[in-house]
Amino acid sequence: MDRAASVRQAFTSVFGTGAAVVTRAPGRLEVLGNHTDYNEGTVLSVAVDRATWVAAGPSASDRCRVVDVANATERVFRVTELDHPEKGDWANYVKGLVVELAERGISVPGFHAVLSSTVPMSAGMSSSAALEMSMLLALLRLARASLDWREMARIGQACENRYVGARTGLLDQFSSLRGKAEHLVYSDFRSLDVRNVPLPAGTALVVANSMVRHNLTNEYNERREACEAALAALRQGCPGIRALRDVSPAQLEAARGILDPVVFRRALHVVGEITRVEAGVRALEAGDVEAFGRLMFESQASSTHNFENSCAEIDTLTAIAAELPGVLGARISGGGFGGITVHLVDAGQAERYGDVLAQRYARETGLAAEVTVCHAADGAEVL
Ligand code: GLA
Repeated sequence: MDRAASVRQAFTSVFGTGAAVVTRAPGRLEVLGNHTDYNEGTVLSVAVDRATWVAAGPSASDRCRVVDVANATERVFRVTELDHPEKGDWANYVKGLVVELAERGISVPGFHAVLSSTVPMSAGMSSSAALEMSMLLALLRLARASLDWREMARIGQACENRYVGARTGLLDQFSSLRGKAEHLVYSDFRSLDVRNVPLPAGTALVVANSMVRHNLTNEYNERREACEAALAALRQGCPGIRALRDVSPAQLEAARGILDPVVFRRALHVVGEITRVEAGVRALEAGDVEAFGRLMFESQASSTHNFENSCAEIDTLTAIAAELPGVLGARISGGGFGGITVHLVDAGQAERYGDVLAQRYARETGLAAEVTVCHAADGAEVL
């Protein structure tokens, strides 16, 4: 049975009535462009064939019950009492949506929901955005309301920022909403325009989970503050600069002397990443996958040395990758400090590549990486 049918069936068996709505929203991989979204830069990402499915219906009161069937856990709360987020609890992503919708004049009735997800948690594949966007589509349906997709993305972001405490950008929600099978998502976080760019033919995306769990909140926020410090210093000489997006590599180099060395390296990463994304789009359009792959490796090197959001295990995975037959490029995906790596490889060699990568990683670190081939998928939808 597919997941949509199984959440629908689980809803009926838990609540004794049919679900009013079933939704799906995918996780994502960040393919090129790290920590650029909140600097008004550009990113290439992909929505993947791992997703969160939700079946939901109204409850008869203001009481809500949300059951996660894949993890056999559930949460009960009232739509009227949502002002006390519990630290680290997945239900914050659901409660936060209700609060954000209320602030936009949309009142969600008490509801029942069953969810099931195949997106690995806290790994860098945006399990939280998949949950938010799938649940948001369901709640909008129950509230008989609709919103522009950009506003939906902002609601998900607001949940993370205000209800969970991570000052993340819009990348994860944009990717989950605007994914397209066989395509990358190219997002511009200044204009908020998105377009889909075909994935290069004959390539596959391999994902290797380092099995180092990442907890984004503190370090992520610290990196964001360093970007803000760089921006403030650079603006003093040049008030036209609105975001790190407006700073060229040459301009940044010229300002090296006035920046704290750590702040300089953080900004160097972001400015470099935006340059690499633009070069990456041109490489894809020219059919030059080797050049695209090199940019992925350069991005990883910059995470390791400039942004310091890699870790020893991710460095090991990408160093092994560089030596394997079939590799085009490999890098960390997402916020960093552990989690997953994304590898662009020759499709014919992808299975073997994954096996050898896992074997060598186990030998060098003693850790059993989960390695899978991922496919690009369509964005969030009501089924
Ligand atoms: C996390 C955040 C995104 C983005 C990436 C890094 O996934 O949620 O907004 O900043 O990290 O590129």
